[in-house]
Amino acid sequence: MLVGKKIIIGVSGSIAAYKIAALTRLFVKAGAEVKIVMSSSAHEFVTPLTLATLSRNPVHQSFVKNAQGEWVNHVELGLWADILLFAPATANTIAKMASGLCDNLLLATYLSAKCKVMVVPAMDLDMWVHPATQKNIQTLLAYGNILVEPTTGELASGLDGKGRMAEPEEILKIVVAHFNDKGALKNRKVLVTAGPTYEHIDPVRFVGNHSSGKMGFALAEAFAAVGASVVLITGPTHEEVKNNSIQRINVTSALEMYEATLKHFSKCNVAVMSAAVADYTPEKVSISKIKKSGDSLLLKLKKTRDILKELGALKTPKQLLVGFALETDNEEVNALKKLKEKNLDCIVLNSLKSKGAGFGFDTNQVQLIMKKGETKKYGLKPKHEVAKDIVNQVIELLHA
Ligand code: CTP
Repeated sequence: MLVGKKIIIGVSGSIAAYKIAALTRLFVKAGAEVKIVMSSSAHEFVTPLTLATLSRNPVHQSFVKNAQGEWVNHVELGLWADILLFAPATANTIAKMASGLCDNLLLATYLSAKCKVMVVPAMDLDMWVHPATQKNIQTLLAYGNILVEPTTGELASGLDGKGRMAEPEEILKIVVAHFNDKGALKNRKVLVTAGPTYEHIDPVRFVGNHSSGKMGFALAEAFAAVGASVVLITGPTHEEVKNNSIQRINVTSALEMYEATLKHFSKCNVAVMSAAVADYTPEKVSISKIKKSGDSLLLKLKKTRDILKELGALKTPKQLLVGFALETDNEEVNALKKLKEKNLDCIVLNSLKSKGAGFGFDTNQVQLIMKKGETKKYGLKPKHEVAKDIVNQVIELLHA
């Protein structure tokens, strides 16, 4: 299941560290190569000798390897791994990761890692629910780290509640699923539109909207993370692509977005249109700056082309088309209407009524409505988590 995969387990000082012996054994049995990095307090709970024997590799504990003062290269460790798993991750280690502290080898490896990081917390229930811990967890999620939620049950303190580290078998399943998902859209081409469009009035003014592009960029990253080759057509935004396999095409107006999208659509298996495209554009664009005159100014607008609707008409049975519906009233009815009228396979309903959702926020709350009527509602989440939900739905629809 994990043949050829390179895993670093970062062990910090929690009683749950004893479970890492079993986890290491499971990873090795599944074919992975495992290296262990421990914090000094982790030694109190499990011996380096146990983990070195089970992982078949020396355990790294400090920046210095041996009595000769040979150095442990944390940058090399960070580059070597396919996944860096912090298990158990204590409240202290999580706090340090969130704030970028680097006072041990574990944290230096974290800051150097180029691979996915998975955080598997273990702590007492009050420490887990403390706002400081929750804030740190949100920070790690915003960095793109994956969280393996602690489970509920009896804790080492004798209390009962959430904070138990996930069981080794469960962690193994999640890691295997992560590697399987990574290639889920290999050889598939995905088109994503993002951001606003600016419709010029004259050389210095435009009609635009507040779309930040965050949702579309998160989608592009999430599709690239599962192996898709992504074309991202974006209106003006400050967002940057992190995965340099993503082909970014910058456009300004609805017409430019239309032309770029139509050019790429036929070669794509999936298109997700998250851009906030202007519905109207000035009928005439003044070549020179419009001078101030009179008490009012009438701006005549003409309809733009509905890109999504045109793609819906062109779509072949092999292509999957996903649209967004940004609504303030009669959300579900309007979204369903758009789904039918634009011939979509799925529509992402974005209600502007939800607190923390929509333009400019780092979070979003969506509902996915499928062509066959199935509906999935999600809670308020960081936009990159929402993007993953949409990608998972696309994978499900492609396999259906
Ligand atoms: N869309 C598009 N081209 C347009 C307008 C919208 O491709 N000219 C796409 C958006 O990218 C989105 C979907 O259509 O995926 C719905 O956009 P939305 O603004 O919610 O709806 P409209 O169809 O524009 O209708 P209305 O503004 O009346 O709600």
